[in-house]
Amino acid sequence: MKKRVAVLISGSGSNLQALIDAAQAPDYPAEIVCVISNRPAAYGLKRAAHHNIDTHIIDHKLFENRDAFEQALHEKLAAAKVEIICLAGFMRILTAGFVNQWAGRILNIHPSLLPAFKGLNVQQQALDAGVKESGCTVHVVTPDLDDGPIIGQRAVPVKAGDTAETLSERILREEHMLYPQCLARFALNGLEAALKTAS
Ligand code: GRF
Repeated sequence: MKKRVAVLISGSGSNLQALIDAAQAPDYPAEIVCVISNRPAAYGLKRAAHHNIDTHIIDHKLFENRDAFEQALHEKLAAAKVEIICLAGFMRILTAGFVNQWAGRILNIHPSLLPAFKGLNVQQQALDAGVKESGCTVHVVTPDLDDGPIIGQRAVPVKAGDTAETLSERILREEHMLYPQCLARFALNGLEAALKTAS
């Protein structure tokens, strides 16, 4: 049985697209059953609709507080019988309450080689630090931001003359390979095994 996956987005959704494309293979161990965006204008919603995947907008601005927003999110995920949540450019911090409800079942992709450079504008952080290598990380989400067990990483060189944009593009190309691979391992073998075979 393929694992039922929800992808949470806020923007372009190029990682979502990579997951959609990978999940089209008949032997891919996960299927994307819904895409949820907190931003009504997220382009990723169009990508999902184009592939006939259910889309939902849960606009955080329409909720009184974070708990109410997360409750709506939780209900939507439970109703869709989701087994794995993939954060893919989802720009809301999830509270410990929500993360613990879905403990060990939320993955995130982050555009740095964690534990280096957490938070926002991480490509600029990497340039400012003068590192010669950066990359991307898929990890299990825990209540601490950009923390949690690492499932996989891919590195890229930082080149002379790089800007945050050129470095982001180079990293994104790797993200699009890494996320489908990590989700497949996680869906197939579960958390412990995915960690043991971390790439
Ligand atoms: C990616 O760089 C991802 O690592 C970060 O947000 C960006 C999302 O890009 N968390 P996209 O929406 O998947 O194109």
